Amino acid sequence: MSVQAFGLSDDDRRPPLNDLLEVVQHGLAHKPKRLPSWLFYDERGSQLFEQICEQPEYYLTRCEIALMAEHAGSIADSLGADVRLVEYGSGNAQKTHLLLQYLHEPVTYVPVEISAEPLRQSIERLSDEFPLLPLQPLCADFTKPLRLPIPPRAPRRTVLYFPGSTIGNFDSHEAVSLLRKMRNEMGDAGGILVGVDLKKDTASIEAAYNDRAGVTEAFTLNMLVRLNREIGSDFELAKFTHRAHYNPMAGRIETHIVSQCDQQVKVGRSKVVFRTDEAIQVEYSCKYSLADFATLAARAGLAVKKVWSDPQQMFSVQYLVRTSALAG
Ligand code: AVJ
Repeated sequence: MSVQAFGLSDDDRRPPLNDLLEVVQHGLAHKPKRLPSWLFYDERGSQLFEQICEQPEYYLTRCEIALMAEHAGSIADSLGADVRLVEYGSGNAQKTHLLLQYLHEPVTYVPVEISAEPLRQSIERLSDEFPLLPLQPLCADFTKPLRLPIPPRAPRRTVLYFPGSTIGNFDSHEAVSLLRKMRNEMGDAGGILVGVDLKKDTASIEAAYNDRAGVTEAFTLNMLVRLNREIGSDFELAKFTHRAHYNPMAGRIETHIVSQCDQQVKVGRSKVVFRTDEAIQVEYSCKYSLADFATLAARAGLAVKKVWSDPQQMFSVQYLVRTSALAG
């Protein structure tokens, strides 16, 4: 197994240009065309995502923060004292703050984030607010095996915090292997605290990914802006639109970038042909029932020990432990 760990400098972290071009060429050669959703998150994309979180239709962030504000004490009690908290994709600081405020004598906080700048910013904010808490940032891709920094003292358990329903971006096969990897990293006594968006009426879900202000559309199309800048492609933004539909059978929002006409786009040295209405699949956002997610967790050797939810059952935060730990 190749184990990689990265220091804070990310200059060697970003995939080299050729790799990015290769990722895009590979995805656009696939039938149907597809591009990975991590391509959304350049600087502008990350800003737009933060704006999405403030849209009235995007209930996920609001519900998760409300839920954390309500239950952080109970969550902290369930995790117990002397926790090493490792956050995957150190996202919205608000949720982490709520959790850290209530944790009983946390040993260290390890935010794992692939982009150095947001990582640096979150560390700066946290060190002001929690001056006594050891911070051990790790600039790395959390989907790859991680080598966690050595903690300043022995933790009772390692808890991997994975908020924001980011798990929803992985199809079930990928989600199971990510959970398995996390299960290995947390060790026997460890746990996973994961934010999971719940199934609900289609209209509410679709509205969340089609906000009236058009921020989600701008977020989706920004992927093309990014590619034009970084790999020199010539996508014409006016000739593509955002489409996000809920697929009830698969239980997920499927987001596409749709070509409005027959056209050719330069990507590297070659041209990619698009037909009218041809779509590039750019994101899945899976929604789970509590039973669905328990089944998924079980496939990774994990049991749901506790679930917290908002009063309307829109969103959940779930605490997973090894199946054997639950039995023993
Ligand atoms: C950050 C992956 C949780 O899927 O809801 C929001 C990203 N995409 N609107 C989600 C997103 C469009 C978001 N996650």
